[in-house]
Amino acid sequence: MITKSLGSNGPQVPALGIGTWAWGDRIFWGYGALYGQAEVAAAFHAAVEAGIILFDTAEIYGWGESERLLGQFQQDSHSPVCLATKYGPVPWRLTAKAVLQAIQDSLNRLQTEAIELYQVHWPFSFLMSDETLFGALATAVQQGVIKAVGVSNYDVGQMRKAHQILATYNVPLAVNQVRYSLITRQVETQGLIAAARELDITILAYSPLAQGLLTGKYTPEHPPTGARTMDGRFKPEGLRQLAPVTNLLQQLAEVHGRTMSQVALNWLIAQDGVIPIPGAKTAKQATENAGALGWSLTMDEVAALEKASRPWLQ
Ligand SMILES: NC(=O)c1ccc[n+]([C@@H]2O[C@H](COP(=O)([O-])OP(=O)(O)OC[C@H]3O[C@@H](n4cnc5c(N)ncnc54)[C@H](OP(=O)(O)O)[C@@H]3O)[C@@H](O)[C@H]2O)c1
Repeated sequence: MITKSLGSNGPQVPALGIGTWAWGDRIFWGYGALYGQAEVAAAFHAAVEAGIILFDTAEIYGWGESERLLGQFQQDSHSPVCLATKYGPVPWRLTAKAVLQAIQDSLNRLQTEAIELYQVHWPFSFLMSDETLFGALATAVQQGVIKAVGVSNYDVGQMRKAHQILATYNVPLAVNQVRYSLITRQVETQGLIAAARELDITILAYSPLAQGLLTGKYTPEHPPTGARTMDGRFKPEGLRQLAPVTNLLQQLAEVHGRTMSQVALNWLIAQDGVIPIPGAKTAKQATENAGALGWSLTMDEVAALEKASRPWLQ
């Protein structure tokens, strides 16, 4: 199984994690109505069973529910997992003390003594200076309550600045978590992937299945339910535009005896320094996504997918 490290000296993890935004989130994903705790508990155990250890959450997912569920599932399973969570300054927590308190609150919900990876959810230097924010995170590393620092949704300039400030404390910037999939490749065009490689920052690719679009299960006849119906990409015209990529995913899935999701994730795994974190709501989805590990597309196939998805570089 391919493993990658979280930043220059972070832990080595299998090159695919799992995202848990949908665990407890009622507003976007419909937790509690379309699926519930039993399904996401089964997803947790299936992921662990398949060797996945990196679980991505955030204090804001389900207003703490995602962290609480992860804490509970981990206690039940006793399996070692690598927990990554995120901080945002809402509601008005804009001081170094507030950051350290937020970490303590996440530790309590996650029922752990140290968080493997603590990420800043979005850039917000207009609310709190980067010096204050990253100074507080460096303090938390020194206290041992977080082991590595990451950012999310940072552009190249913001990422370089965060890296630079943390370096003054001898703390590496371990990851930048950004939207990245075969049909969201702007991070390549913007030079973010290249800059992350230069600085030894791992890219955690969020929405790597484009919220289900790359699984092939959504068609004009079978649209998703819930918030995604508002997204033009899920409407008939949007779905039709995806055909060059989805047809190739289908072909490669047949060649390898895999699914389209596994091929789409394997393409991301083939990118140097990139770890996809697909969301899964059920054991079936978690097991299927873990099946993106343990095999590889050929270099020609990786190149063919790159070519077919060039319109999505913009
Ligand atoms: N940092 C940020 O700002 C940010 C933003 C977004 C996400 N994230 C993180 O990234 C993670 C993943 O992103 P995401 O949830 O937006 O999108 P995603 O991983 O591209 O898509 C997840 C959704 O696709 C469907 N799915 C997943 N695996 C499947 C499979 N094998 N077969 C069929 N359907 C499957 C499920 O929804 P259905 O079954 O309903 O189709 C699932 O909820 C999140 O959980 C979160 O941890 C971070």
